[in-house]
Amino acid sequence: SCNDTPLKQVQAKPVTRLCKTHSIITVNGQFPGPTLQVQNGDTLVIKVLNRARYNVTLHWHGVRQMRTPWADGPEYVTQCPIQPGAAYTYRFTIENQEGTLWWHAHSKWLRATVYGALVIYPKSGFSFPFSKPKLDIPILLGEWWNRNIIDVLRQTTFTGAAPNISDAYTINGQPGDLYRCSSKDTLKISVKSGDTVLLRLINAALNQELFFSVANHKLTVVGADAAYTKPFTTNVLMIGPGQTTNVLLTADQTPGRYYMAARAYATAQNAPFDNTTTTAIIKYKNTQKGGSSPPQLPQLPAFNDTATVTAFTSQMRSPSNVKVPTQIDENLFFTVGLGVVNCNPGPRCQGPNNTRFAASMNNVSFVLPRRTSLLQAYYQNIPGVFTTDFPTVPPRKFDYTGNVSRALWQPLFKTKLHKMKFGSNVQIVLQDTAIITTEDHPMHLHGYHFFVVGQGFGNFDPKRDTAKFNLVDPPLRNTINVPVGGWSVIRFVADNPGVWLMHCHIDSHLNWGLAMSFIVENGVGELQRTSLLQAYYQNIPGVFTTDFP
Ligand code: C2O
Repeated sequence: SCNDTPLKQVQAKPVTRLCKTHSIITVNGQFPGPTLQVQNGDTLVIKVLNRARYNVTLHWHGVRQMRTPWADGPEYVTQCPIQPGAAYTYRFTIENQEGTLWWHAHSKWLRATVYGALVIYPKSGFSFPFSKPKLDIPILLGEWWNRNIIDVLRQTTFTGAAPNISDAYTINGQPGDLYRCSSKDTLKISVKSGDTVLLRLINAALNQELFFSVANHKLTVVGADAAYTKPFTTNVLMIGPGQTTNVLLTADQTPGRYYMAARAYATAQNAPFDNTTTTAIIKYKNTQKGGSSPPQLPQLPAFNDTATVTAFTSQMRSPSNVKVPTQIDENLFFTVGLGVVNCNPGPRCQGPNNTRFAASMNNVSFVLPRRTSLLQAYYQNIPGVFTTDFPTVPPRKFDYTGNVSRALWQPLFKTKLHKMKFGSNVQIVLQDTAIITTEDHPMHLHGYHFFVVGQGFGNFDPKRDTAKFNLVDPPLRNTINVPVGGWSVIRFVADNPGVWLMHCHIDSHLNWGLAMSFIVENGVGELQRTSLLQAYYQNIPGVFTTDFP
């Protein structure tokens, strides 16, 4: 079926939170933006009209975009931004994905307010691999700033310092009872005793990994990033920006009111973070009259409780045995990490000790092109936009998680891509570094999902660690946390031609260059570049001219 979703208008709108009103960028005037509900196999046609005063693009986070790289959305990677007054049509098909994904702006930091859920149901006649829940609710975790988000971005870009931390976390756009001026708008979910609720958790926060828990209730994880998981039960989960987790909750407690809550999992040493807690309320319909005692808060782990995170993520499994690539064609080792660059003392050097923050992968700090997109440059052979010499191993070996001198590691600011043959079996080791601090990084790959075959702490050791890989039932993700001071290893088949961004989904890190990009070449006949009609609707330049005499 062809799911022709309504026109999306990106537009400014005044919104009040924490007793302050300011204008934010929204989609169709909604914050968070509209939830898209589709079925596996649907083709979506979404026309985006930009009525804001900023350039914008939309990204369909986690959608594989098989043979539709032009619809992926990151600005200057797969398209030029949609300028104020202009429109762009995204057209793509959901192929073999079910669960929860989301969409967000992929332009500067506009995704702080421009985001929404993308719920993918099974095809008609098919059902969830668990009994149908009574309620099915997207829970979007976000961060709220009292300031214009582009000003927050400018502050970090122009001073070279870390960005100002957020003023609140939010659940479906609302900070909740623990913040001033927020109680009356707190999200409330009414349940009947015995009901099962599917909570579709999405971490849409700009810069913060989060813990999430519900008072007194166990959560059964049944999916993550639009793939089912082997069900397991937990009191608390950690969710990084970009990730989604589907959990089932059964209303099996004494009728009453219970908080769900989220707050920071923050791992960068000595870095400030927003230490507040956002809440929403689960309210039993049969709560006794006068039972107005305040809702109970769940116990959330300490902000730096990495042991709880490891215990949680290590339980993620595919529901049954999967086909993990074993003969590896592309064996890549990427450092991911924060760093600083030396600079002349001045207003733009407000990082630690007269430096600017920079982040890199294999010592390359990623720079986006400014006049064209990488995809367009690749298809049209436009020279001078990028090079394909992204290093596949770090340019020098060092004790990545030890005491690293920053002089050793001053990044290059370049647009370097790595080109891969269609159909290659790819393994990537993602290794955190300790250049100014170790930190947990939620790494996202566009155009793909991948098996997470191993995770651990310290420096990855191929001999010791490869032997412990899970090649039987590893989870399928599109965003995986690289543990603080540790590593994650992912595998996938490069079966989707195009140009695909890989980056840390903490936007301050992305802004500092923690990104790279892959080119996956066309298999013969695998990718039809475009049709005239598509080129017309999506304004793809260079396909035709309209000067027929
Ligand atoms: Cu959810 Cu490149 O992003």
